[in-house]
Amino acid sequence: MNGIASTAAVTSGRFSRIAGTGGHLPGRRLTNAELADQLALRGVETSDDWIVERTGIRARHFAADGEQCSDLAVAAARRALDAADCDVASIDLIIVATSTPDMVFPSTACIVQQKLGIAGCAAFDMQAVCSGFVYALTVADSMIRSGAANKALVIGAEVFSRLLDFDDRGTCVLFGDGAGAVVLQASDSPGLIASELHADGRYVDILCTPGSVAGGLIRGDPTLKMDGQAVFKLAVGVLEEVARSVLVKAGRNEADIDWLIPHQANIRIMQSTARKLKLSMDKVIVTVADHGNTSAASIPLALDVAVRDRRIARGDTVMLEGVGGGFTWGAVLLDY
Ligand code: ACO
Repeated sequence: MNGIASTAAVTSGRFSRIAGTGGHLPGRRLTNAELADQLALRGVETSDDWIVERTGIRARHFAADGEQCSDLAVAAARRALDAADCDVASIDLIIVATSTPDMVFPSTACIVQQKLGIAGCAAFDMQAVCSGFVYALTVADSMIRSGAANKALVIGAEVFSRLLDFDDRGTCVLFGDGAGAVVLQASDSPGLIASELHADGRYVDILCTPGSVAGGLIRGDPTLKMDGQAVFKLAVGVLEEVARSVLVKAGRNEADIDWLIPHQANIRIMQSTARKLKLSMDKVIVTVADHGNTSAASIPLALDVAVRDRRIARGDTVMLEGVGGGFTWGAVLLDY
């Protein structure tokens, strides 16, 4: 395919490596049964059984009124800085992957920078919906390799609860809020080994929030719309394809993957991807049951969970895979 943004494995030079991870979930946890009770009050029928069987989701976390995307991002960033034993003053790049920013502008990354009490370094948002973290990590890696940055905070943070139409049972049961972050720093050895990013704008309509702000009013519908079956079919195809392509670039194969961290949208998409890559589900990090789909936050949150419970150890080979609205998708292979 033409026009693919990617980095290929090289054996010497300047690389980037994850120095620490962090995650944050807002305090309000809602089980399927609790959500079903609330939806019933609006005349919307669903059940724990339906949600678990079709998606694997059992609960999600929702931000409190007034709790912003940047608040979740800062909490995750502070944990990542602690884990990396890193002074915030040494950060020279902040990228926040989000589709639910605090404001139309400035970027949530600038607000995060202000809340962290630093100034001067580059800060910008990455908008690639559920693929946002994989996009952001690839861009940060490129900037570190080129010498444009030395130590980056790469964050995925979302308050998707704000986009949901609670009269649409086909979408409102799927999503949750949260944030995950990594400190990515320059290193003599990889680190990130290979990555690849894709988009296909022909599929804009199958997963979108079409509203916008104009003339002081909301124009169009500001809630999330999804053709679930179309998304499902595309997702399982591209997740296999991009994983294989990144492995070829890295000169590795499926057996070299210690851990697969796919975007946490739906357990059935993850099972299908693992099957196609001939990986046992024991090697797949799954947090969708307790987090729901947190869009750009899902991959760094899952990474942080598995690092903190010591499944992922230093030296393990990890494949991160994102897929989402746009349609966008991508993968990063790294040695943790
Ligand atoms: N509770 C009970 N019944 C429901 C619910 C619900 N929450 N939602 C839909 N239904 C009903 C429908 O109304 C329909 O009823 P009908 O047969 O009487 O008309 C029936 O269930 C089947 O509906 P479908 O939409 O065909 O259900 P499907 O089996 O496709 O499952 C789902 C829907 C879970 C969304 C599935 O399509 C899917 O997993 N898609 C992948 C999309 C995804 O994961 N998106 C996340 C965001 S995208 C991303 O992050 C990449």
